[in-house]
Amino acid sequence: MKKTKKIEVAPSILSADFRYLERDVKALQDAGADRIHCDVMDGHFVPNLTFGPFVIEAVRKCVSIPLDVHLMMFNPEKYIQQFCDAGSDIIMVHAEACNDLPGVLDSIKKCGVKAGVAVNPDKPIDLFLPYLDKVDQVLIMSVYAGFCGQKFIADTMEKARRISDAIAGKYEHIDIEADGGVNRETAKTCIENGINVLVSGSYIFGSSDYKERIAALRM
Ligand code: DX5
Ligand code: ZN
Repeated sequence: MKKTKKIEVAPSILSADFRYLERDVKALQDAGADRIHCDVMDGHFVPNLTFGPFVIEAVRKCVSIPLDVHLMMFNPEKYIQQFCDAGSDIIMVHAEACNDLPGVLDSIKKCGVKAGVAVNPDKPIDLFLPYLDKVDQVLIMSVYAGFCGQKFIADTMEKARRISDAIAGKYEHIDIEADGGVNRETAKTCIENGINVLVSGSYIFGSSDYKERIAALRM
């Protein structure tokens, strides 16, 4: 089923220059970004290590657009309250990293924050399909979580199509987001397959003209 939702662009600050994070996130907002995507990595679920709630709190003070927080960590339940208090608007956990996925989704919603679920390219969407009633957003990883600048894995779009079908008529408020290797060309593939939120790091930060890059992704 073709989606009629507005295509949103969520630049990932993983590619930002953290010396100038305030400058960069304000520039992204001014350039038309719909959200700011914040990649939290724990060094266990993924080999890379990034930042925690303090950085979310700092970004919250700089922009008014929603903060799309992607938790790449084991035991996310331990930190949900902190990420909510820091000003997240949507928190996504990896289904394959949770012992009690429905419980974690409930705890996010209890804080008044939108709940999202992600899966890596080699993990099935069946891990979360039974819990769609608790979900505001599905994140299809189009690269393996952990690093920016990887190549888009087109096979992952089959999952986007399956989710589009699964939500049709019943859960159409659910956003479907793609994350990893999204650029001018692969964005088209995403949109054709039912994605309505595009995360992009290195493509947007690869130019000083964020406005042009963000607009190109929406086309
Ligand atoms: C990967 C992260 C992505 C990444 C996107 O683990 O979740 O958000 O930063 O970066 P690009 O667009 O460079 O693939
Ligand atoms: Zn991400």
